[in-house]
Amino acid sequence: MNTLKVEDVSYSYKNAAGEQVVLKDVNAEFKAGKMYAIVGESGSGKTTLLSLLSALDKLQEGDIKYNNKSLRKIGGSEFRLKYVNIVFQSYNLIKYMTAKENVEVAIDFDGRNVNANKYLKQVGLSEEEGDRLIGKLSGGQQQRVAIARAIASNSPIIVADEPTGNLDEDTEEKIIGLFKDLAHDDKKIVIIVTHSRQVAEHADEILRLKKGKLS
Ligand SMILES: Nc1ncnc2c1ncn2[C@@H]1O[C@H](COP(=O)(O)OP(=O)(O)OP(=O)(O)O)[C@@H](O)[C@H]1O
Ligand SMILES: [Mg+2]
Repeated sequence: MNTLKVEDVSYSYKNAAGEQVVLKDVNAEFKAGKMYAIVGESGSGKTTLLSLLSALDKLQEGDIKYNNKSLRKIGGSEFRLKYVNIVFQSYNLIKYMTAKENVEVAIDFDGRNVNANKYLKQVGLSEEEGDRLIGKLSGGQQQRVAIARAIASNSPIIVADEPTGNLDEDTEEKIIGLFKDLAHDDKKIVIIVTHSRQVAEHADEILRLKKGKLS
């Protein structure tokens, strides 16, 4: 079973004001088949933790291991390419492409030939919306494109930063159902940062970040 293990991870930023410790000896274990929610107030380090879990930032102290192999060994680009897919807090969509093309980018990546419309439909977007440029979609629709892109990729780990932040309750419910299926049916490791109580309640485990510690 796939596992992602965080071992004594500490992380700090160097600002003009000096060094700011954001994570302090954080430990956690994420298992395939489960959906995890990471909660905590603004500035508590949730995005920082996600960027370490997805190897977007380099570890400073401690280690993160995927199936007992250190990310330092696997290498950041290899890890991101093969094992993890990220839904960013700011959606990171490619503006000059249509919604459909943005989803196809993820699919092309691992060489499969899958219909992007299927994934757009899953997040509640029509074919007509799929053919629009990103700038011609609402914020919530753009967010759903980012989610469709993550779902379309075949990676065993999905991390998402506030994926339902711009969605109404009904759409949020639907999207959470999709993330749940990815965990429970497809046996992926799903890790979601959220401020939404509704989302957190659906998770199999809730982890709270406070003062650099995870509990
Ligand atoms: N690149 C950076 N350089 C310096 N400081 C940073 C950087 N990124 C984040 N920080 C600081 O680190 C702390 C944690 O930030 P982080 O983005 O991880 O919080 P968060 O829990 O995701 O907050 P939010 O809920 O508002 O998204 C904050 O005080 C932030 O200002
Ligand atoms: Mg954040």
